[in-house]
Amino acid sequence: MSDKKKVAVVGGTGHLGALLARRFYAAGYDVIIGSRDKAKAEASARSIEEVYGNRTSPAGACADAGPHDGFDPLRDTAHLYTGSISGAENKEACRAAEVIVVSVPYAAQADILASIRDCVDGKPVVVTSVPLDPGNPTSWVDVPDGSAAEEAARILGPESKVVAAFENLSMHSFPEGGSVELPDVLICGDDAPAKAVVSEMCESIGLRGIDAGPLKNARVIEKMTPVLIGINKRMKKRRAGIRITGI
Ligand SMILES: NC(=O)c1ccc[n+]([C@@H]2O[C@H](COP(=O)([O-])OP(=O)(O)OC[C@H]3O[C@@H](n4cnc5c(N)ncnc54)[C@H](OP(=O)(O)O)[C@@H]3O)[C@@H](O)[C@H]2O)c1
Repeated sequence: MSDKKKVAVVGGTGHLGALLARRFYAAGYDVIIGSRDKAKAEASARSIEEVYGNRTSPAGACADAGPHDGFDPLRDTAHLYTGSISGAENKEACRAAEVIVVSVPYAAQADILASIRDCVDGKPVVVTSVPLDPGNPTSWVDVPDGSAAEEAARILGPESKVVAAFENLSMHSFPEGGSVELPDVLICGDDAPAKAVVSEMCESIGLRGIDAGPLKNARVIEKMTPVLIGINKRMKKRRAGIRITGI
């Protein structure tokens, strides 16, 4: 049995959520993919298990690591996988988890958070949302709470432990073939233990988690994503990311 936490990935059927779910599973977490549609969540979980579930053969386990992550710093330890992966409707996934990652489009975030609010129960909730301009993903829209993360904290209530992370992580960050420089994950939040949990999760999937201060700093970090998308477009790349130097 894994001693790592049980993680729900709400929106784990999507681009970024599936990447995170795969990597947490490969790192030994017990992962529950959440979806509005239980059957869709179960199908996503099965497809990940088919790729990563071969625990006796590291080569087999990573031979087809999915559309977004061929190169995998976890490759050499793939035979040590000790986690599990399953699918559930969002609320059920959140009830069963110890940490919740919400990876849904910003436009859907408020409704999804309201739907899971009663199941969060003081657990760390990691939000990844970026309020992009729907007509131009190289620009952002200002949101009334200052950031999508602060909006999430308001919706989940004063006792919530919202952590903003992965907003700058391209779903293409782990490309096919060869070694690449991986980005850092800037972690914002007002609850230090919750941030520490997320930092450990980052390290376990091969990324350096950096404490980037209080939740309100997500205002800055979320706005970096459209800048990165613009860099990608101009340079014809897909995984521009952020690394902090000098620390
Ligand atoms: N993609 C990236 O590279 C990337 C990078 C950094 C940050 N982000 C941020 O991470 C979040 C997720 O991005 P994504 O690209 O993974 O999103 P996505 O694939 O478009 O959607 C993720 C999941 O959200 C769920 N969802 C819930 N309500 C929805 C609605 N009304 N419309 C559409 N989907 C809905 C869907 O799951 P069910 O249908 O199963 O419920 C869907 O699979 C976004 O806020 C984005 O800004 C993404």
